[in-house]
Amino acid sequence: MHADPRIVAAVLALLPGMLAAAEPPAPARQRELAHLLAHDCGSCHGGRLAGGLGPPLTAEALRARPDESLVATIIHGRPGTPMPPWRPFLTETEAQWLVQRLKQGESDASR
Ligand code: HEC
Repeated sequence: MHADPRIVAAVLALLPGMLAAAEPPAPARQRELAHLLAHDCGSCHGGRLAGGLGPPLTAEALRARPDESLVATIIHGRPGTPMPPWRPFLTETEAQWLVQRLKQGESDASR
């Protein structure tokens, strides 16, 4: 069982791009995103994101959810529910950052 060197080379060539994509948003953009979370997301998910029209987005509520599916929900919305797609406003990296923030207890931080 040997890895095909061409595949290894391709993966190594892609790696820097993948790592760059995982960089957190710039500090100014982080402030905008935090504002979006409190105001836009909060309008449905409730004050402190503890639940309203939308379900709670507390660290506790999201702990068991895989990041990818939460990111997909934010980017694409949930058709047939009021959860809108945020793709026009957020990149996937930014949605990922929001999920990390929520899982770390953003609702506690904004108390
Ligand atoms: C217009 C109301 C509305 C707004 C605004 C809104 N949501 Fe939602 N969201 C919902 C509803 C309703 C659901 C539940 C959908 C369902 O029934 O599956 C939901 C579901 C979710 C889920 C999945 C939760 C879970 O337990 O699976 C996440 C994550 C989420 N929203 C994040 C966000 C974020 C982040 C924002 C702001 C960028 C946002 N939402 C803005 C209404 C909204």
